[in-house]
Amino acid sequence: MIKKCLFPAAGYGTRFLPATKAMPKEMLPVVNKPLIQYGVEEALDAGLSEISIVTGRGKRALEDHFDISYELENQIKGTDKEKYLVGIRRLLDECSFSYTRQTEMKGLGHAILTGRPLIGDEPFAVVLADDLCVNPEGDGVLTQMVKLYNQFRCSIVAIQEVDPQETHKYGVIAGDMIRDDIFRVTNMVEKPKPEDAPTNLAIIGRYILTPDIFDIIANTEPGKGGEIQITDALLQQARSGCVIAYKFKGQRFDCGGAEGYIDATNFCFENYYKTGKAY
Ligand code: UTP
Repeated sequence: MIKKCLFPAAGYGTRFLPATKAMPKEMLPVVNKPLIQYGVEEALDAGLSEISIVTGRGKRALEDHFDISYELENQIKGTDKEKYLVGIRRLLDECSFSYTRQTEMKGLGHAILTGRPLIGDEPFAVVLADDLCVNPEGDGVLTQMVKLYNQFRCSIVAIQEVDPQETHKYGVIAGDMIRDDIFRVTNMVEKPKPEDAPTNLAIIGRYILTPDIFDIIANTEPGKGGEIQITDALLQQARSGCVIAYKFKGQRFDCGGAEGYIDATNFCFENYYKTGKAY
């Protein structure tokens, strides 16, 4: 059973400056809810109630968000505004939250390794909250991945087909097809130029990792951009064992940049806010 979900949230969010100068990118609101809340809801829906967040300097708003605000509670108690807090209260009731700080931003792999003391020796999920994932047709993306983990019992990365010109923004996999939506990973390249990309199957911000990944990351040298890359560690795990890449059902919005953020806002406004499902 997977119970834990790690949210690396220490990055600088430079693509969204100046909004992210003093505010964590993960707190950017998509309509009325911060990005990270969508991620925690997706995790809880998948049965993952132990939430671990890797934060950094200037990220205290994240901790305050997942806490009770007594003044506010007192102010709106008994009014019709209480409905606005139903969703966040459910998360506070049903999840536990723990935090650790990444003091130097040495990359996503390093951020995940920083979370090791919170995770321990068990499989866990990783959510990059700036990738907002939705599946109006059925199970959320993490729920789909947990089901797949129960079948394969190895690390799983979520992938989607991207425009071949866009491969330089992602980790890109190659693999042997097991089913039309499942691949056994044979290669992984971090942010390849289109001419160097093995495929156009790009890794997005949802992972399930087995705990042996920690030792592998600890022995991984800095890669692309001088950062410790999770793709480098996963490639080693794929070569010595097994990593599955899964073409998830649903939609993903890259909210780390303006275009995906606006698309996500429009989607959530139409599908959640206007239909009264936004709280
Ligand atoms: P990004 O590549 O999106 O980096 O990191 P970023 O700094 O957040 O954003 P830009 O590119 O400068 O606009 C992917 C995820 O990994 C986390 C980020 O918080 C984000 O969720 N991360 C990245 C860390 O926690 N620590 C790091 O050292 C690097």
